[in-house]
Amino acid sequence: MQDLDFMNEAIKLALKGSVYTHPNPRVGCVITKDNTIIGKGYHKSFGSNHAEVNAVKYCLNKFGKNKGVDLLRGSTAYITLEPCSIFSKTPPCTDTILKYEIKNIFCASLDPNPAINGRGVRVLRKAGLNVKVGLLKKEAVKINEEFFFRHNKGRPFVRMKVAQSIDGKIALANGDSKWISSKESRSDVQNLRAEVDAILVGSGTVLKDNPRLNVRNSNKYKAINKQPKKIILGKIDYSTLSGLKLFKEDSENIIFSNDDFVSNHSKVIFKKLKKQNSLKQLLKELTKYEINSLLIEGGSQVFTSFIEENIVDELIVYLSPKILGNSSKNATEVISPKTLNNAKNFKILKSMTVGDDIKIIMRRK
Ligand SMILES: NC(=O)c1ccc[n+]([C@@H]2O[C@H](COP(=O)([O-])OP(=O)(O)OC[C@H]3O[C@@H](n4cnc5c(N)ncnc54)[C@H](OP(=O)(O)O)[C@@H]3O)[C@@H](O)[C@H]2O)c1
Repeated sequence: MQDLDFMNEAIKLALKGSVYTHPNPRVGCVITKDNTIIGKGYHKSFGSNHAEVNAVKYCLNKFGKNKGVDLLRGSTAYITLEPCSIFSKTPPCTDTILKYEIKNIFCASLDPNPAINGRGVRVLRKAGLNVKVGLLKKEAVKINEEFFFRHNKGRPFVRMKVAQSIDGKIALANGDSKWISSKESRSDVQNLRAEVDAILVGSGTVLKDNPRLNVRNSNKYKAINKQPKKIILGKIDYSTLSGLKLFKEDSENIIFSNDDFVSNHSKVIFKKLKKQNSLKQLLKELTKYEINSLLIEGGSQVFTSFIEENIVDELIVYLSPKILGNSSKNATEVISPKTLNNAKNFKILKSMTVGDDIKIIMRRK
């Protein structure tokens, strides 16, 4: 096997972290000696051991402590992300690498987190290790797209999910939207929720639908150790807070509003928005809560605001073959362009049938 094969193996391991690591990245590590794998591991869930530590443990368990330590001395590690050099929920991985005298390090990419970015590599090089950066970088970055996005762009990756009729409506005139999409689509949304750090809805949707906005009934849910944060945009009257289901869930909630509204509700953080650039301010603020990925779930005014500001990175539409007619609520009230060339435009990545609906995944052009 070659370096590329070992790094590929490390990427496959990293992917096993699936939805359980975020907001931490998925990371995999393979350790070799004389071209044979002696250790492998991945970051299994947020707050748990990092990949390098698990790979070392694997080696010590498999070969026994004495032989394992001998094998690790002078070995080569293939890691999908730069080893951390700071104390966070776990000790620095660079300490483990140095302790077991691993000699050669391939890391696919530097860690974009400014607290680490290049420091891990410098620590190891200073200690005399051979460190090469960049092997299968593109592939390794892809598996942590949203983590890199937040650190590089200073805001979360924004997904918007819309369940709409074929004539572009998201609710009847009386606000009833249960249910436009099929049971299967709604179950699919549970998987979308499991993948994000936070879900955002407008106050109109909170008051009309009283949603729970949690992850449930999802295969991916089983090992998730925390629910996505809930972000509410708009004013919620204090007297109604305790009746709202989402505040009964076990998650952090943040209300962003243009109003001066404060309360000492234990489960809610309030943030005042400026009138200008309010959504950009909101997204920037969310990075402080380590939110890599945000799922916008409606309703119409919120969809409109995010589309108008050009900050929807991925649009997911569940298209139901229903026609709701003229007086129903439009998915958006985006101002019409003067020419077709100026229309907001998305590129279709994938489409598939889900129950009675078509799910379309699009990216911003
Ligand atoms: N089919 C679907 O996919 C779907 C999904 C969700 C909801 N829905 C339906 O949609 C309806 C609710 O939609 P809606 O348009 O009435 O309400 P909404 O979009 O849920 O919430 C509207 C509120 O959000 C706040 N807001 C929006 N943009 C903002 C911005 N840029 N800055 C600050 N605040 C902002 C405003 O609050 P303030 O007025 O306090 O400033 C506004 O009143 C319901 O009938 C619901 O069933 C359908």
